Amino acid sequence: MTRRKFTTGHLVIASHNPGKVREIGELLAPFGVEVTSAGELGLPEPEETGQSFVENAELKARAASVATGMPALADDSGLAVAALGGDPGIYSARWGGPAKDFDYAMRRIEKALEGNPDRRAHFVCALCLAWPDGHVESFEGFVHGTLVWPPRGPLGFGYDPMFLADGQTQTFGEMNPEDKHAISHRAAAFHLLVDACFRH
Ligand code: IMP
Repeated sequence: MTRRKFTTGHLVIASHNPGKVREIGELLAPFGVEVTSAGELGLPEPEETGQSFVENAELKARAASVATGMPALADDSGLAVAALGGDPGIYSARWGGPAKDFDYAMRRIEKALEGNPDRRAHFVCALCLAWPDGHVESFEGFVHGTLVWPPRGPLGFGYDPMFLADGQTQTFGEMNPEDKHAISHRAAAFHLLVDACFRH
């Protein structure tokens, strides 16, 4: 498959999360890419009405690209639990409720599993690069594992304390960030994006 290369130097990150924007900026700096965030530009956050991670990443990237006339990059991520038919999936953030309480969200998952021996789950990260002419390039990264109970570890965020990646002894909540970033769904998606669109 021929992928369109990113050649213009300036990229809008379709996110209002400063931590995420900084991280993406650092990842793309070696390729001479300068980033500005949708937050800094005062762009509205579109409603995430897609039915998949890729659809949601695409609608965020397209909206930022059309609004600015520049290429834009967006991500969407979450946790898919096999025995729950892929839930919370694209609703991962919403399962934390208005308070974004992920202790509560993890208890909700444990309760929904109700002793089910199938503890398999995976994190997904979709990344979409959109151009003002409507062209998009999308990538998905995964990390597979199992869910532990009770949750373990103070590090990371979201569902990290209950996620044990295959082949690891520490949950994402116990691993230091560099070790998590080496194997995470986000790292996998970024590798695909960088190889396809930023390496010339
Ligand atoms: P968003 O893509 O920033 O909207 O994040 C979606 C939600 O998925 C987050 O609020 C987290 O609950 C969950 N999530 C995504 N990636 C991770 C991760 O690396 N660790 C733990 N939870 C994650």
